Parts: sequence; structure tokens; C-alpha cells
Amino acid sequence: MPRVVVFDRTGAPDVLRIAEEPVVEPAEGEVRIRIEAIGVNRLDQMMRAGSYPGPVRLPRARLGCEGTGVVDAVGPGVEGLAAGDAVLVTAVPAMDLNGTYAEYTTVPATTVVARPDGLDATGAAALWVAYSTAYGALVEKGGTRPGDHVLITAASSSVGLAAIQVARQIGAVPLAVTRHAAKKEGLLAAGAAAVIVTDDEDVAEAARRHSGGAGADIILDSVMGPGLADLAKAARPGGTLVTAGWLDPRPATFPMTWPLTILGYASFEHTLDPVVVRRIAAFLDAGLRNGALRPTVDRVFGLDEIVEAHRYLERGQQVGKIVVTV
Ligand SMILES: NC(=O)c1ccc[n+]([C@@H]2O[C@H](COP(=O)([O-])OP(=O)(O)OC[C@H]3O[C@@H](n4cnc5c(N)ncnc54)[C@H](OP(=O)(O)O)[C@@H]3O)[C@@H](O)[C@H]2O)c1
Repeated sequence: MPRVVVFDRTGAPDVLRIAEEPVVEPAEGEVRIRIEAIGVNRLDQMMRAGSYPGPVRLPRARLGCEGTGVVDAVGPGVEGLAAGDAVLVTAVPAMDLNGTYAEYTTVPATTVVARPDGLDATGAAALWVAYSTAYGALVEKGGTRPGDHVLITAASSSVGLAAIQVARQIGAVPLAVTRHAAKKEGLLAAGAAAVIVTDDEDVAEAARRHSGGAGADIILDSVMGPGLADLAKAARPGGTLVTAGWLDPRPATFPMTWPLTILGYASFEHTLDPVVVRRIAAFLDAGLRNGALRPTVDRVFGLDEIVEAHRYLERGQQVGKIVVTV
């Protein structure tokens, strides 16, 4: 029988275990996908650990909001998809029921798009969440324009690296922020116009220096925590700060830097909207074709190594995406 990753209680990575489940016949409007590779995300870690804000139906909860594979069966009423098509899963809002950490999953046909040409399964598993989040937060939400200076925290994260490339693709100037000087060369090689190392320098002063004295037009922050207030000082007057994650779980101090627009970003506001999904897919296809977008895979695990993959995610030393092949 096909393998699936489940957990019966929330907790440390070793709550994850491999079980077997029969495949589910796709209902009206659904497709069944034979998963080839999975992108591991912080959202998965939060659900597994018990800090996910939505419901988690235990025991035998499934996991995984990102994956790529081949359409295996098509339910009644589905048009434009056929068995054998290579696809990306674009959203799994109820991942405890039909998560992607499995050999098969069944999802609404509206939540898959064609896998872009030229990407193998591993590269494709590193694409959607990171790049749709970076594009959605910077372009759709933040309104980033050519020439804007874009300050990107956790720049070595998969979302951060994607944001550097998305900014480059639209003609903006990406300024990468990391805590560690050792990551500086790698971030410059990834396309950052400048790298700010928060262990060594003041982020606001450095952002002004790298933007002709003005400050950042757009800030994409995935860290929050007490550093948010200092980060806001890096914005130009009238700039925009988009918060997309909270890698630092400590309380954030509300910044007293005016005028500044602060926007919270959750990718589901775009990835569940077929019209925006079409725009995202078109943007990603164009960027992959012209070479501006190059998904970064840090390390690949097998499905049987899922516990180790989550331990590795928690160590936080990756540069780019952790992928699990099935
Ligand atoms: N809003 C959305 O819809 C959405 C969608 C997807 C992901 N996200 C969020 O985006 C963020 C990045 O996700 P990811 O999967 O790309 O992450 P990731 O690859 O796991 O990010 C790891 C990097 O984040 C930085 N980091 C970790 N803990 C930190 C801390 N306490 N303070 C500062 N930096 C820290 C580190 O970079 P340095 O060592 O270089 O500092 C680390 O290398 C997460 O917060 C995730 O929840 C949001």
C-alpha cells in the first residue's frame, strides 16, 4: 500500500511516522497526484509542533503544503488536466487531511498548475511556496516597482533567496539581511546588490547607505520579534514593510516610525485565488525561462528520512530549500 507520513500528537520531529493508506478516488473536481518531491516548509513544522493557528485533526494527521508530481487520476468534471501531466500543488489549506508528505494525495484541480518546463522534480519542489510568497508579498501586496530598494530579512531562507531573484526580475535593487558574515559571499552570488550583516552593523544605517541615503522603499520581513522596530527605521519615509513570517518567536515591538505602511502577508490570500495564481505562474514561467529565477535546493532527503529532514529544518543552517523525494 502507498506510504504516507502521519503524526498522532504534536511535538518534536520524531512524532512523524510512516504509515500506509489506500489511494483515494478523486471526487468531482479533484485530481489524484503521484507525488515525486516535496518542499519542506515552516508551516509544516508549526503544524507538527502544535503552534499552527488552524485546526489539526489528530490522530493520523497528514502534513505538507507543497509538492510536485504527476496526475494519476482525474475526477468527474475536471477539464484541462489528464493522467500523466506533471504538476505543482499550489495550495493545501487542509494539509492535515490531504498533505503532500505521501506517495499520493488528492486535491482540488483548481490547486494545481503545470510544472514549468526544464525543472526536474527536485527543483520544482523548491519553487512554488518560496517564489509565490516572494512574488505575492513584494509585487501583489507591497507594490514593488523597478528601481525600488528592497530590504529582505532572512535573505538566505528559501523565501529570502526567491525574493532577491524576484526583485532582480522586476528591476528592483535587493538588499539582503543576514545575521552571519559567513553568508555574505553566497548572498552576493545569489544576486543581492548589498548584504547587511546584523551581527556587525546597524540595519537602518546600512540600508540608508546602500540606497543613496533615502532608506528602503520596501522591506520584506520574515523575522519580526523585537528587531522589527529597528528594521522599520530602515524604511524611507512613506515606505512599506511587508511582514511574511515570524522566525523570531519573541514578541514584536510595534515600530514608531512614521509615515510607514505595514502589511501582513499570508500567501493563501493569493494561492487560493485562481486569477492571481495565473499571474504568479506566468511570472514564474517567464523568470525561469530567462534565467532570473533559479530555485535553490539546500539538501535532499528521502521520505523515510522525514524525521531527520525536520530536525535539519529546525537547526536553521540551510541556504535555500529542503526537499524530500518520494
Ligand atoms: N506569509 C506566507 O505566506 C509565508 C509563506 C511561506 C513562508 N513564510 C515564512 O517565510 C519565512 C522563511 O521561510 P523559509 O521556509 O524560506 O525559511 P528557512 O529557509 O527555514 O529560513 C532559514 C533562515 O532564516 C533565518 N532565521 C532563522 N531564525 C531566525 C531568527 N530567529 N532571526 C533571524 N533570522 C532567522 C536564518 O538566516 P540567517 O542565519 O542568515 O540570519 C536561516 O538561515 C518563515 O518565517 C516562514 O514561516 C511565509
